[in-house]
Amino acid sequence: MNDTPLYAVFGNPVAHSKSPQIHAGFAEQLRDPVRYDARLVPVDDFHGHWRAFLNEGGRGANVTVPFKQQAATLADQLSERARQAGAVNTLVVTENGEVIGDNTDGAGLLLDLKRLEAPLTGARILVLGAGGAVRGVLEPLLETGPSEIVVANRTVEKATALAALFDAQGRLRGCSLDAIKGTFDLVINATSASLAGALPPLPEMLFNEGALAYDMMYGAVPTVFLQWAQRHDVRCVDGLGMLVGQAAESWYQWRGTRPETTPILEALRADLC
Ligand code: ATR
Repeated sequence: MNDTPLYAVFGNPVAHSKSPQIHAGFAEQLRDPVRYDARLVPVDDFHGHWRAFLNEGGRGANVTVPFKQQAATLADQLSERARQAGAVNTLVVTENGEVIGDNTDGAGLLLDLKRLEAPLTGARILVLGAGGAVRGVLEPLLETGPSEIVVANRTVEKATALAALFDAQGRLRGCSLDAIKGTFDLVINATSASLAGALPPLPEMLFNEGALAYDMMYGAVPTVFLQWAQRHDVRCVDGLGMLVGQAAESWYQWRGTRPETTPILEALRADLC
């Protein structure tokens, strides 16, 4: 019997996942040994693999594509932020065996934006996209006290419907990409356009002085959105720090301690290049 606490990331595909490396880094940094492995799960047997994991003594897991919605259905309870995000990226097994479904993506983004000293309080923020990646980040962004958040999406109905879900006292609105007006302190690309190497059509005058352009995607080379933003002379950052941030928040939910993210992020960055 191995007493070292067991965690895993469930996904399909999962071989590319950086979560095992990130959590191994946290464990080493905090001198808190854990086992953390990547589990490739057939798309039709997430529940079976989760049960087998629990039988092995599993204490928690990260959940990635395509299981983030299914994971919500096996949890005994959902955290408020998982409910709001409509997806679960973290499962926590409590002392009494209850399974809590949580979502740490929004907290991970905020952790990274704070690390970057991004303009937040009083800032005008533009979020591009209105899909799953956006649902979980609007509430934590609103909590930082921006003057306004505009959610702009190719399909305008999705942006307006999403904005209507939040009680934002007029500080949040949805619009189409071609209706973006004014300039912003922080522009977050949460569309999947970067994956296809595409750039959402954006107005040329988009940034205030000192603005930050942030893409939730990351890679060895800057995304098309960040390449476009670089030409506008603003600070550009990809989503690698958000990835480490969401992992740090998952770790906190499991282990109750907060890892330092910067050294882990630097190691991952070095591996990417
Ligand atoms: P995710 O979970 O990553 O958010 P998603 O729910 O499929 O993925 O959402 C993808 C988002 O990227 C959507 O907002 C989508 O716009 P539509 O709602 O109009 O589909 C946006 N998107 C994808 N490709 C795009 C492109 N080429 N230009 C602009 N927006 C794009």
